[in-house]
Amino acid sequence: MKEKWWHSSVVYQVYPKSFQDSNGDGIGDIEGIITRVPYLKQLGIDVIWLNPVFKSPDVDNGYDISDYYEVNPQYGSLTDVERLFDVCRSHGIKVIMDLVVNHVSDQHAWFQDALKGEESPYFDYFIWSKEDTGLKSVFGGSAWEYVSSLDLYYLHNFAVEQPDLNWENESMRQAIYDMMNFWINKGIAGFRMDVIDLIGKQPFEGIMENGPKLHDYLQEMSAATFKDKDLLTVGETWGATLDNALLYSDPERHELSMIFQFEQIGLDEIPGKSKWDLRTLDFMQLKSVFSKWQYALNDNGWNSLFWNNHDLPRIVSRWGNDAEYREKSAKMLATLLHGMKGTPYIYQGEEISMTNAYFDNFDDYLDIEAQNLIKERLDQGYEQEAVLKSLQTKGRDNARTPMQWDDGLHAGFTEGTPWMKVNPNYKEINVASALEDSNSVFYTYQQLIEARKNHRVIRFGKFNEIDKENPHVFAYTRTDASEQVLVVCNFFNHKARVTTQLDDLSDYKVIVHNGDEVRIEGDQLFLEPYEAMMLIKYKK
Ligand code: GLC
Ligand code: CA
Repeated sequence: MKEKWWHSSVVYQVYPKSFQDSNGDGIGDIEGIITRVPYLKQLGIDVIWLNPVFKSPDVDNGYDISDYYEVNPQYGSLTDVERLFDVCRSHGIKVIMDLVVNHVSDQHAWFQDALKGEESPYFDYFIWSKEDTGLKSVFGGSAWEYVSSLDLYYLHNFAVEQPDLNWENESMRQAIYDMMNFWINKGIAGFRMDVIDLIGKQPFEGIMENGPKLHDYLQEMSAATFKDKDLLTVGETWGATLDNALLYSDPERHELSMIFQFEQIGLDEIPGKSKWDLRTLDFMQLKSVFSKWQYALNDNGWNSLFWNNHDLPRIVSRWGNDAEYREKSAKMLATLLHGMKGTPYIYQGEEISMTNAYFDNFDDYLDIEAQNLIKERLDQGYEQEAVLKSLQTKGRDNARTPMQWDDGLHAGFTEGTPWMKVNPNYKEINVASALEDSNSVFYTYQQLIEARKNHRVIRFGKFNEIDKENPHVFAYTRTDASEQVLVVCNFFNHKARVTTQLDDLSDYKVIVHNGDEVRIEGDQLFLEPYEAMMLIKYKK
């Protein structure tokens, strides 16, 4: 495999609306991000993934774009964004942007013109139907919206205000590629591609994900834009399976650098139901999903590694323990993830183990998906308590509360009124206190990032799971010709032990550890609740 810069990178995701406000209007902005670049440098990350900052009515927080060439004034101007790129560059940080091309905003000039009917050159940029075929929107309700002036329905996989683009239309595709080149020429280092596995959809055949022309489109896109530019491209692909994953990231095929696959994300959901219908996580399944992907992409293709993003609940609340063992379990989760092979992504606030918001008032859930759910489920007769429980556990708002910088007014996020409530635990959980405490979660992330830079084996070594049947511990090695790394993570709030089948355990040195001492007996390691460690042995 030819080595690329992004094989060695760690990406940090910035959700601009909630990162840092600089002008007191309660909304995070570009200038705010600029002031925090030194903090990100201190953490040690290499790349920022910036969620959408383009012009948008903000129905879905920027994922409804009304002009790809303009910046949403609430975040600043194009000049501000260029300044952000410069400041990042001077700190050795690259920036990748969100590419949202499955749909646009209904306020986009293309859609407004298309509403004139078939004589509009943009009419065919969208997907029209004479009837509602029964397709459901991801955000609830029908995926077809009726336009009375045309006596037609248009397709919207997401909100009514997010009409789907018709990828069969060639001039639409060219317009998207032109737009991508505009941003590439501004110096961005790549794209995170929103729900990209939907662009090959065949709605009249009921095919949404993984449509027949998906990979043709990606190859065409690559050839027209980033193919020879050495960029990082990562596809958001909810429909990815092992069978199709290599189609995206096999270097020979010239599609994407890597994808986000979501198999582990569904493991606490009742199969066949929605993300809101919860069950307890099956840890053995989690282990087997992780190792399956690690083995499959050991030699070819590339994994992305993530627990969190702006659509997912906070991992320490979800699969860690955000009460008694918040810091300890957050460090364990970080170690488990960052020891694997792939490019790690950190979502803002994860590095200080921010928790779910647990809002207990429906009005505090601002996300369109949450608002639709509340309406839909209350109408269907669900108990208020049950709906609230789903939102507290899985709602996207949990990840979107303002970043907790210090214990002052509004957690240091804004001097005005924050657009969204700050998590009340900011007095305890914030960046300032994490930086002061040399034992904080922040420094574990810093060490893990540093370790990846220092040890080639963490970037490229072969993955091998050990003590596979262990019901409490996820353990694996990473091996190359000169080093071996051992990662051992107790996923539970009780003691555990792991059998490594390594007879030279005492030769291993600690790189990262969330406990006081490494307890070895023969080839076994004894672990306290949530204890996790990354050890290394030099072979020569
Ligand atoms: C992706 C985004 C999500 C958005 C949706 C529609 O899943 O991550 O935030 O709502 O696409 O664009
Ligand atoms: Ca602002």
